[in-house]
Amino acid sequence: MSDALKLDFLGDLKRTHDCGTIRLANVGERVLLMGWVHRRRDLGALIFIHLRDRAGVTQCVFRVEENSAVHARAEEIRPEYVVAVEGIIENRSADTINPSIPTGEVEVVVDKLWILNESKPAPFPMEEEGNISEEARLKYRFVDLRRPRMQNNIMLRSKVALEARKAMYDMGFLEIETPFMTKSTPEGSRDFLVPSRMTPGSFYALPQSPQIFKQLLMVSGFDKYFQIVRCFRDEDLRADRQPEFTQIDIEMSFPQQETIFETVEKLVLAIFAAADYKIEAPFLRLTHKQAIEQYGIDKPDLRVPPLVNVTDLFLGQGLATEGLPMVAIRIPNLTLSRKERDDAKAFGVEKGLRVLDDLKRLDRDMPEAMAEVRKRTGATDEDTLMIAAWPSEPTGHLPEQTVYLAAGALRLHLAQKFNDRHKLLDPKDLRLLWVTDFPMFEWDAEDERWQAAHHPFTSPFEEDIPLLETDPARVRSKAYDLVISGVEIASGSIRIHRRDIQSKIFSAIGFSMDEAKNRFGFLLDALEYGAPPHGGIALGFDRLIMMLAGETSIRDVIPFPKTSKGTDLMCEAPSTVPDKNLRELGIQLRVKV
Ligand code: AMO
Repeated sequence: MSDALKLDFLGDLKRTHDCGTIRLANVGERVLLMGWVHRRRDLGALIFIHLRDRAGVTQCVFRVEENSAVHARAEEIRPEYVVAVEGIIENRSADTINPSIPTGEVEVVVDKLWILNESKPAPFPMEEEGNISEEARLKYRFVDLRRPRMQNNIMLRSKVALEARKAMYDMGFLEIETPFMTKSTPEGSRDFLVPSRMTPGSFYALPQSPQIFKQLLMVSGFDKYFQIVRCFRDEDLRADRQPEFTQIDIEMSFPQQETIFETVEKLVLAIFAAADYKIEAPFLRLTHKQAIEQYGIDKPDLRVPPLVNVTDLFLGQGLATEGLPMVAIRIPNLTLSRKERDDAKAFGVEKGLRVLDDLKRLDRDMPEAMAEVRKRTGATDEDTLMIAAWPSEPTGHLPEQTVYLAAGALRLHLAQKFNDRHKLLDPKDLRLLWVTDFPMFEWDAEDERWQAAHHPFTSPFEEDIPLLETDPARVRSKAYDLVISGVEIASGSIRIHRRDIQSKIFSAIGFSMDEAKNRFGFLLDALEYGAPPHGGIALGFDRLIMMLAGETSIRDVIPFPKTSKGTDLMCEAPSTVPDKNLRELGIQLRVKV
């Protein structure tokens, strides 16, 4: 901090306007604005500053010939200083109008200036995007959040939360809080644990979601619940995952799946409208099976053309393993070099596929089949076309699914790797769809057992219950996801509300009744006290905002996020604690840090 600069007190000064709302209609008015100095240009007799607050920027001008004392004081101002200015609004001459900002037709001619606080130089350029290290941004998050892009993201977040609440209240839902200090929940990640001082050796778990409590609320008769709620999961982080994140969590009693879809569609329409997106409901729907067969993934990105089944065209050619599918992949407006094609092919081979990409040869050897492939896919000479088959023995419990998943991975690889050329993955192109009828179980190869694909409170299809013991891979569940442009935004299910069916599911996933009672005993008890049929869903709030803001990382829509290593660089959390605190908690570290 410089000693020379004398700061002014706020005294009884009051803002008359914010920095984003002044327009031509205000010309001639006297205004008092406060904010941060965004940019400063010193032309000698004239000093310009862009004064910024969260509403925007207004240009302020200090003219030496009109007020030399204030002009002299303005020479001391630097970027990010906090100032108050008072003056008259004038319109700018035609040649100085700035059409890129809403206040660009006017400026404040300043006759009073208060310097309320100085600032060290910002740790990174305030206007530049792209080249700033994320480490610096997160360490100086309080400055980073001042940048207009971040201000807009956080304001959008607030607005969407408000509109979401309004929409939920309008549909008759109650917002009810559930505990953060609780017991392990069933989402399948690791828990964050909080040691108890009063019961040494015991731990609370932070909830991975309010799943059990919201089900209990249904048993208690609060038939339409929602909560905008923080969840905690100790899992490996990625651009769309944080250890603490927010859900719009919803549960209803006596719903059909349809009732839940209608509710969420109304909510999502309100949310998108808040972000100036117009979308239409009902959203497209695919069953899980269709999603896998058409897109090779359970969260299809509809911006990229689907896989096209061409098995029948190549039967008996020895190109694929008998009984397994062959699919064509088309990426429009993409021509690959030889090397790029070889790399893509290697990617597919790595996934187990045989990739047929030598179209000239195929055209020569099988002209009719290839004409039909082109017809079905709509491929032109401008497009990349590949055919994927499975050359070896079938693998997995659902071998045909293995083929589709591998082909789907290749499709997405091509879409993502060459997006700068075909530009299919426009972040503003948001395509919504429901994926329904998920399988009940997934095979956990490491533990060699079936796991609940959603969570173990999800209801199986009644007609599939007999398959629980004979063919668990084919049991369908009443679980559904909402997917937006390839990102899983929401997940939910119709729940099991009967103790007998719940027990069957636990035994199918190798959970002994003792184990189940130990972890979720209170829910099992509740199922015996008049639990109504119920179901619900949770939307990943951060992911939604990320998509609406056109960002690619949820860190850019969370005010104070963690790094990909789960640390908070600003407050340096997690951190060690004094031995005294550990002793109080009855904890002794085995690894000395
Ligand atoms: P699920 O575990 O699928 O379901 O979570 C619901 C949604 O929350 C978002 N999400 C995340 N967002 C950011 N960081 C994370 N680490 C993270 N994990 C999940 C996703 C996801 O779709 N209790 C069930 C819901 C229910 O059945 O009602 C649940 O939590 O967008």
